[in-house]
Amino acid sequence: MKNNRVCELLNIEYPIFQGGMAWIADASLAASVSEAGGIGIITGAAPTEWVRNQIREAKKLTKKPFGVNIMLMSENAEEIADLVCEEGVSIVTTGAGSPGKYMEKWKSHNIKVIPVVASVALAKRMEKSGADAIIAEGTESGGHVGQLTTMALIPQVVDAVSIPVIAAGGIGDGRGVAASFMLGAEGVQVGTRFLVSKECTVNQNYKDKILKAKDIDTEVTGRSTGHPVRVIKNKLSRNYVKLEKSGADVEELEKLGAGTLRKAVIEGDMDNGSIMSGQIAGLVNKEQTSKEIIEEMFNEAKERFKLFGGNNE
Ligand SMILES: Cc1cc2nc3c(=O)[nH]c(=O)nc-3n(C[C@H](O)[C@H](O)[C@H](O)COP(=O)(O)O)c2cc1C
Repeated sequence: MKNNRVCELLNIEYPIFQGGMAWIADASLAASVSEAGGIGIITGAAPTEWVRNQIREAKKLTKKPFGVNIMLMSENAEEIADLVCEEGVSIVTTGAGSPGKYMEKWKSHNIKVIPVVASVALAKRMEKSGADAIIAEGTESGGHVGQLTTMALIPQVVDAVSIPVIAAGGIGDGRGVAASFMLGAEGVQVGTRFLVSKECTVNQNYKDKILKAKDIDTEVTGRSTGHPVRVIKNKLSRNYVKLEKSGADVEELEKLGAGTLRKAVIEGDMDNGSIMSGQIAGLVNKEQTSKEIIEEMFNEAKERFKLFGGNNE
């Protein structure tokens, strides 16, 4: 896309990121997105050696830039922070906190740092600490969520910072891309729709759940523990919410949630696994390659821009 700061910053064709999804975002998915002209992200919320292997595998699959997502609260965050420098990764997205203490090191390795935020205050802090761009994520999204909707969050973050803002949460087709740009974003991050990419290696049962989901099929668990997560409703989530309502303590709830994403992603257990997904799952109804997904989204967005007399290439 011409005259787009995200494309210029990262030297890419389409300003679209594939969200770094824990247990899911491996070399296969990330490389397919990068190869198609976006930015693929490998999850860093995994054992360090696994992440190293995925980075090396992705480099075999594509010569284009890709990133690693670092969850700053995870036990091995420090190790992953070093790993991205050792392996020559060019982009890092961060979640669950402030990457301030790693910033100098990453900058000295020419790494572009793009934190995920859910509020204006955090966006401002990240810009001050040297972030190259910001991913502002609304509560519609899958996985860990904040409170504000994408519609309300994006223009407020755009007004508060001068670095490029990438919108995330609820973007499932070209209308979502166009709407994000109308709100002032200069790129998008997509998670849920990439779950059904042909190159995504998540268990087929998980893909089928996304493909069949309706608009009202997700709910948020963990509001009482301070770690709210959006998932597709199932036996596990109903049980969890019931326990939360009965005033269960954090320890009991965390025990119930432990290891459940793995159960869904790897084992395909749709009753006892955590099926993280965004609200937009109701719109996602076909499996396609990452290239088809990206091209379809941006072609649709271009059609939308024409409605406003724009000609955004
Ligand atoms: C299954 C799943 C796992 C996710 N795991 C992470 C994660 O580990 N780190 C992160 O920063 N975001 C994570 N996310 C959020 C995505 O990176 C992305 O921002 C979000 O999915 C965008 O919203 P959407 O789902 O409406 O497309 C996850 C999302 C999903 C659906």
